[in-house]
Amino acid sequence: MRTLYRQLSLVLLALFLAPVQTRAQTPEKENVNPVARNAQSIQAGNALYLSRQTLCSNCHGADARGGEAPDLYTSRTVLRGTDQRLFEIIKRGVPGSGMPPQPTLSDEQVWQLAAYLQSLGRPGRQAPVAGDPRRGARFFDETGCRRCHMIQGSGGFLGPDLSDVAARLTTEELRHAIVNPAADVRDGFRPVTAVTLAGERVTGLLKNESIFSFEILRADGTYFTGSRSSVREFAPAEATLMPQDYQRRLPPSDLQDLLAFLDSQRSEGRAADSWLVKAH
Ligand code: HEC
Ligand code: HEC
Repeated sequence: MRTLYRQLSLVLLALFLAPVQTRAQTPEKENVNPVARNAQSIQAGNALYLSRQTLCSNCHGADARGGEAPDLYTSRTVLRGTDQRLFEIIKRGVPGSGMPPQPTLSDEQVWQLAAYLQSLGRPGRQAPVAGDPRRGARFFDETGCRRCHMIQGSGGFLGPDLSDVAARLTTEELRHAIVNPAADVRDGFRPVTAVTLAGERVTGLLKNESIFSFEILRADGTYFTGSRSSVREFAPAEATLMPQDYQRRLPPSDLQDLLAFLDSQRSEGRAADSWLVKAH
């Protein structure tokens, strides 16, 4: 099924690539939370979180700031993991720990919970970032950010889609991600070089790793699927594909405008706060 989907999407990719370069679609689609990140989903997720059906709040606290279970505001899984990983953890729990699976929830409900968790401490709780978003938008193109990052459906796929990045990261985390990108590389964006038993070297981003197999997304958008046993070694690779010299290259005011631009993308998020079910 997945292979079929992938073949189909590669055909579509080929079709799109030819006439309009900007449609280079993200091969990440299947791992992305399918529910809209709007006030309704977040509210639904919040209600589920507080419900007797899930008991999430019993362990993680009504405000999700942690109790006997981890704080979900600062959870790395919530902040930096893929949508798919968050989904798996909520749905299947963490075997061998106190985190139970949720067999009675529909997939849609699990995704709503994920949307709620990802909204925590982010949208609507922060004043708009200072700076000129329109200048920032220009820098985003001129500096080459868009070659690797998609925003609202246009751009490259080597880096994460930044359409709603300001709804996931605080301004400080955003700044840090730009000037010090190697410090905390998001899952699914780690560069690797695999050397197969046949001596073939495959370089790209490590996606969908499991115990037995893994996938590498190459720079040309194609996937290499390998089994662990077919790989001789993983050669050392750079920490990240993102350029690491923006601190030096971007004057502070340009960086500020870029932040204002990225922040201006979180359109729906700002309204979300007032919709949250109050946890009392
Ligand atoms: C019985 C207590 C309990 C309940 C109920 C519970 N959790 Fe957990 N949860 C835990 C514990 C304990 C961990 C830490 C697991 C570990 O050691 O990795 C955890 C981990 C997590 C994590 C990963 C945090 C991280 O950074 O590793 C997420 C996300 C999470 N829970 C969300 C939820 C959601 C959403 C619900 C409700 C659907 C829920 N939990 C219900 C106890 C619980
Ligand atoms: C050559 C490709 C490339 C270019 C050019 C590039 N990035 Fe990145 N960027 C990446 C990759 C890959 C990651 C994920 C790995 C990491 O965090 O280092 C990333 C991560 C990020 C993140 C963190 C995203 C998240 O979800 O955690 C932000 C923010 C970001 N880039 C902004 C920018 C901005 C702004 C520019 C232009 C000034 C830029 N990037 C230029 C490849 C690139």
